[in-house]
Amino acid sequence: MGEAMTRGHFITFEGIDRSGKSTQAARLAEALGERALLVREPGGTSLSERVREILKDPAIPLTGRAEALLFAAARADLVERVIEPALAAGKIVIADRYVDSSLAYQGAARGLGVEAIARLNEWASGGLTPDRTLLIEIDPRRAAERGNEEHDRFEDEGLAFQQTIAAAYAELAAEHPDRIVRIDGDRAPDDVAADVARIVAELTGEPAGIPA
Ligand code: TYD
Repeated sequence: MGEAMTRGHFITFEGIDRSGKSTQAARLAEALGERALLVREPGGTSLSERVREILKDPAIPLTGRAEALLFAAARADLVERVIEPALAAGKIVIADRYVDSSLAYQGAARGLGVEAIARLNEWASGGLTPDRTLLIEIDPRRAAERGNEEHDRFEDEGLAFQQTIAAAYAELAAEHPDRIVRIDGDRAPDDVAADVARIVAELTGEPAGIPA
């Protein structure tokens, strides 16, 4: 008691649809155990889960701006209620998607402008920036060949859309070389996981077990 808690670490996973990043985020969370908190965007609070349902419902037509604002609203709620308190409690927070997703999908692919979406999210997130972002890169054509069971408004946009997103992510990585680490996702999941574990261990200063 009485000792100031050291702030935790905020790690985000990014990538195009079916890049394998959700699997990697889950494996990392499992490897870190109690110290980790895994969240997925949009989601993680009752409001954000409800917003997720709206966003994923192809029957609800959304304008680009409305879509961007809904993602930002879900994020604002998640940051304030879940992520910030967990970081203050010393947790390693792992987010499956965060602001970079909005920059790539809404800013670049939807054509709303990366700058405008960055300003919106700077405000929505209260300025919370990840300590490290792991960008899982995979050829969009290969991603398209992966499982196709779930369809939502983004996965139905097709190859050109995913290629635009991949290019936007690469540009973001070039702009933020200290934060965003590019990881080749066109490999066996175990090899990708080993890279993830190494990068996280470098960040936290402790060995992170490689999940079996
Ligand atoms: P989800 O099923 O979680 O996809 P994935 O497993 O690929 O993360 O659906 C999220 C979809 O929403 C995904 O296609 C990416 C998109 N998205 C945005 O367009 N903007 C955002 O800010 C976020 C967080 C996600």
